[in-house]
Amino acid sequence: MNSDSSFLKALNKESLPTPPIWYMRQAGRYMPEYQNVRKKFKNFLDMCKEPDICCELALQPINAFELDAAILFSDILTIPDSFGLGVEFIENEGPVFKNPISNSTDIKNLNHFDPESLDYVYKAVNNIKSSLPDEIPLIGFCGSPWTLAAYSIEGRSSKDFEKTLGFLESNQKDVHDLLTKYTDACFLYLRKQVQSGADVIQIFDSWANLLTKEDLIEFSFNYINSLISALKLDPVTKNIPVIIFARNPKCNIEELINTSADCISLFWSMNDLNFEVAKNKVAIQGNLDPKILLESDETIKRETYKILERFKEYPGYIFNLGHGITPDISPDKIKYLTNIVREY
Ligand code: CP3
Repeated sequence: MNSDSSFLKALNKESLPTPPIWYMRQAGRYMPEYQNVRKKFKNFLDMCKEPDICCELALQPINAFELDAAILFSDILTIPDSFGLGVEFIENEGPVFKNPISNSTDIKNLNHFDPESLDYVYKAVNNIKSSLPDEIPLIGFCGSPWTLAAYSIEGRSSKDFEKTLGFLESNQKDVHDLLTKYTDACFLYLRKQVQSGADVIQIFDSWANLLTKEDLIEFSFNYINSLISALKLDPVTKNIPVIIFARNPKCNIEELINTSADCISLFWSMNDLNFEVAKNKVAIQGNLDPKILLESDETIKRETYKILERFKEYPGYIFNLGHGITPDISPDKIKYLTNIVREY
């Protein structure tokens, strides 16, 4: 199955003449087709609970741009929602938690995670997988335990997550307990996604940048490593490639390799890492700055070529952005970008 997929070959660290392409947040508000469906739902999570709608949304960018991988349409905050934290998405504000974590009792009292409570996600995986052509792999995903904990403590999106960092400073042991609960939940959740048809897993550590190097290892990467180790030991998930995306972490490439991920997805500013030491150990994905897609075609081409040049000899390279597509980007630019990468 999927033996012809260039994406799976690259994840297996094979050198390819043309890199496979997919984009973080490839399904979303920048697409008029998405907006047409989105306007029928008040709450974003209600839309995620409709497996047929998720299937339609996941396929929109595949049909529009002929990408080399699809990603499950869902969100990383399904897990905190399942734990009873009451996640809502408010227009122009993003996620807001009805019951954020504010003390150690809240952590102790968290209900036991029931993977069946997220059945709507596995149904979406199954629907998307059945609708995709055989040679297009499906990426399942979760947030990293640290990133889920940060949203759960902060109770909303934030620039600096001040409340979370304050809580961490005075409640280290409790935060470890929360991270352990989220790690166990992520494992069961991803295992179910794989049983339902996911071919690849991506872990989003979107708030890795908040932590100092020491804290990053202790509170984020150690848990990502436990999660990946559990996946690699389980007969269901052991052969599934794992991609780690960490937003601008304060570390070298060695620490990212030590998470045991098969592929490192680079944030757009991560350009001066020592890629030589990563060769034949991990595949690389990335990393055009999505803001470049607001510039002229000429600029897009120049910046894209820089990246393709940097990784042209790299064994196992996947073209992607350095973070998700934002709503202000024109679908025409995505089409243009995809074409120039394929023609390079
Ligand atoms: O193609 C895809 O990638 C779609 C699937 C997907 C979504 N969210 C849909 C979504 C994926 C993989 C995610 C991951 C996600 N969700 C992350 C990690 C990636 C990253 O950007 O760092 C994070 C941090 C979240 C949490 C989240 N979800 C926020 C903060 C927000 C609001 C701000 C924003 O970017 O819109 C969301 C909402 C969200 N998730 C939307 C979509 C399509 C927009 C919702 C809408 O239409 O109102």
